Amino acid sequence: MEKLVITGKTPLKGEVVISGAKNAAVAIIPATLLINGICTIENLPNISDVKLYCEILESLGAKITWHTEHEITIDTRDINANNVPIETTRKFRASYYLLGALLGRCKSAQIGVPGGCNLGPRPIDQHIKSFEALGATVDVSNGNITAKAKKLKGASIYMDVVSVGATINAMIASVLAEGTTVIDNAAKEPHIVDVANFLNTMGADIRGAGTDIIKINGVKELKGGATYSVVPDQIEAGTFMIAAVASKGDIIVKNCITKHLESIIAKIEEVGGNVDANGDHLRVWYSKRTHKANIKTLPYPGFPTDLQAQMGVLLSISEGTSYINESIWESRFQYTVELNKMGAKINAQGKTAVFEGVNELVAAPVYATDLRAGAALIIAGIVAKGKTEIYNLNHIDRGYENIEEKFRKLGAKIERKIVEE
Ligand code: EPZ
Repeated sequence: MEKLVITGKTPLKGEVVISGAKNAAVAIIPATLLINGICTIENLPNISDVKLYCEILESLGAKITWHTEHEITIDTRDINANNVPIETTRKFRASYYLLGALLGRCKSAQIGVPGGCNLGPRPIDQHIKSFEALGATVDVSNGNITAKAKKLKGASIYMDVVSVGATINAMIASVLAEGTTVIDNAAKEPHIVDVANFLNTMGADIRGAGTDIIKINGVKELKGGATYSVVPDQIEAGTFMIAAVASKGDIIVKNCITKHLESIIAKIEEVGGNVDANGDHLRVWYSKRTHKANIKTLPYPGFPTDLQAQMGVLLSISEGTSYINESIWESRFQYTVELNKMGAKINAQGKTAVFEGVNELVAAPVYATDLRAGAALIIAGIVAKGKTEIYNLNHIDRGYENIEEKFRKLGAKIERKIVEE
């Protein structure tokens, strides 16, 4: 087992280059199952969820060539299986995209129930409702989800809940359906647009991604034959922006899309940070002690839930009393228990947490409870006085490429060490 050892306080200075978006990559890779051909994907993040998905596709008969750790060519002409066991699918939430992709390709899929970060209940009723609307029968029993259809016919799907995963899964499942599908009350995240752009590059006909109404005109087949570059990761960019202000630093964030960062830029400026955005890069810096703010996490373009924990670190050392309302997930304040060990004064009850700003955090041994909480604890270690140890790194490695290397290049004193058993 490994731990991160971080010595604070260190102001972050310099440049960081953002990797491809995890939540786009883990949808685009299974979506290649819709292609009866070859395609190349660039700017993939070098993270364990991407490697896991490539192993899954190879287990189904895909041939994958790694040109670099960020670029692969996938040949899906000889897919010869449509089932993935629960031992594999339970490792991450995005395994649910196998349902839409295999249903779309071979009208039949059997996968183990998805896993993923423990954020409270993570139902998939909207995914199932979408597949049934397209003509599939879906059975969930004994830890497996089995979806079958004689044929898939375009349908109107109204999402009861704005759901990233269900929106993408419905889009994937309808690409090769007969006729037109309309997804209403769709989620609008940048990674949804990226999956639609990827599929259209490969021959699909999807319009309206990024709005709350997405129209998919079914096509006979996707021939592929093209190359696609994954969108920069909005959440990774936001993580470094918050770290820069919390550490009293001054950094340049490169290879990002500042349009995707509007809610984060607004919140950082509201608390007293500074941002100078220029298209594909931005400068973010600290000039004076930050002060209180209230945050309600919302679907895009609202403030992203995946930056809630990171923002919690900044608010815990900002002047005054701040409030965060986590409207997406039932249980996404577990990180506050760890921050309180470091001297924060946070009272989290249900979907709301109250932050009494303190002057400084103090190092302590802390445990990552999910991917973004792990990133938040790294920020806390950088801003705290003393030597912080962070355990449960598996969460962090799933979603951030070389995170300690990127922070080290910005001046953080951070090392990965083996934990003596
Ligand atoms: C995606 O999860 C992301 N994961 C999450 O990021 C992110 O927090 C979330 O979207 C919201 O932005 C991936 O893309 C792999 P949802 P997903 O469906 O698709 C409810 C990270 O850190 N819901 O948008 O699982 C659900 O309970 C991860 O990168 C239903 O009720 O999220 C939640 O309250 C953590 N029924 C809300 O909708 C459904 O069928 C939003 O969930 C589906 C969802």
